[in-house]
Amino acid sequence: MLNGEKKIARPLRWAMVGGGRLGQVGYKHRTGALRDNTAFQLVAGAFDIDPERGRDFGVNIGVAENRCYDDYKTMFGEEAAREDGIEVISIATPNGTHYEICKAALEAGLHVICEKPLFFTTDEVREIKSLAEEKGKIVGVTYGFSGNQMLLQMRAMIEQGKIGDIRVVDLQYTHGFNALEEEKPSDAQKWRVDPKIAGPSFVLGDLSTHTYYMSQLIMPNMKIKELLCDRQSFIKSRAPLEDNAHVLMHYENGAVGTMWTSSINAGCMDGHRIRIVGSKASLEWWDSKPGELTYEVQGEPIQTLIRAMPYLDESCNADERLGALHVEGLSDSWANIYLKFAVAIDAKSRGDEETLKNLVYPDIDAGLEGVRWIENCVRSAENGAVWVNFE
Ligand code: NAI
Repeated sequence: MLNGEKKIARPLRWAMVGGGRLGQVGYKHRTGALRDNTAFQLVAGAFDIDPERGRDFGVNIGVAENRCYDDYKTMFGEEAAREDGIEVISIATPNGTHYEICKAALEAGLHVICEKPLFFTTDEVREIKSLAEEKGKIVGVTYGFSGNQMLLQMRAMIEQGKIGDIRVVDLQYTHGFNALEEEKPSDAQKWRVDPKIAGPSFVLGDLSTHTYYMSQLIMPNMKIKELLCDRQSFIKSRAPLEDNAHVLMHYENGAVGTMWTSSINAGCMDGHRIRIVGSKASLEWWDSKPGELTYEVQGEPIQTLIRAMPYLDESCNADERLGALHVEGLSDSWANIYLKFAVAIDAKSRGDEETLKNLVYPDIDAGLEGVRWIENCVRSAENGAVWVNFE
């Protein structure tokens, strides 16, 4: 159980790039990072593409005015000259800026926590991975739902053979918020369908990378052998980027899988679901009821496992915060992954490879897998929705 006590010697001096007043995801980062004030302290930022608005915002959330910078390059330069300069940054800007900001941060000697999808190509991720290794720095990726501890319960139960051999993987991350063509799309919606800023996909990157990572967290031994992706832009102005896609997967062990990702699932408020079907039983988790896990053993009454109960696996309850009777949700999930980022950064700085080896968190390899997933899906779709080897 977590109670905010320190896990590392002192909080890390942390800054944000992006995530300003109008940014959609910035507050989730701050809610996660600042939950345990023993992990991170927000001391600086280049919060906004508009420097004035960014400074005003930074001051309003308690950052010293002289540490609210016009842009990230100035921030990295000026902070490097301070004895109490920043040690780690989070990148909460549109996709097309992640690579250059991440590279500049690593070159400035900073650890990085970056939004998904990490970059546009796996080549870029591999290059940044080498740079991070050379600099001895961590790159974490904010798959924000993945800190939900019931996913670790699924991982433990699968590892313990509670569902038998995995046969079917049924993944879905859909919503209906783009079912209609927006008359006046928000800035955040406009860039999401602009390949120059969003990259080679819309919902495959925006939504399904989360669920794909979560499936890997739950089933670390399940490797995709080949996949087929069919994608569409039901709202034509979004072409060539898709607002809907179906992916079929063949795993190396003979299991099969599907992913449905969509932002045109009209009426759907939160269709984020993972169902793993084994030879004896199935497990199912819905993001809309994150504290519950359904365990269905063939021929027996269906069980609902509830968060924070002593019958759950130790690995699951280790990330418990509020205890039974009280509702946890997305903020707690973000706090859990941010705490792991802090532990990883601290371990890396101390050369503690043993801690790093045993820590389960979304690292740069998780970022690489997400970009690889998109690349393979797009390659299949562009070739007419054909099976492609998962390269
Ligand atoms: P947004 O468009 O709402 O906000 C972007 C923010 O970055 C704004 O504050 C903007 O002023 C700022 N910005 C843009 N360029 C900048 C630059 N060069 N320097 C400093 N600030 C800059 O975008 P949104 O929806 O917040 O998405 C940002 C990233 O987060 C994307 O990569 C997206 O895929 C990801 N995301 C992740 C979520 C998650 O659950 N992990 C949820 C939503 C978005």
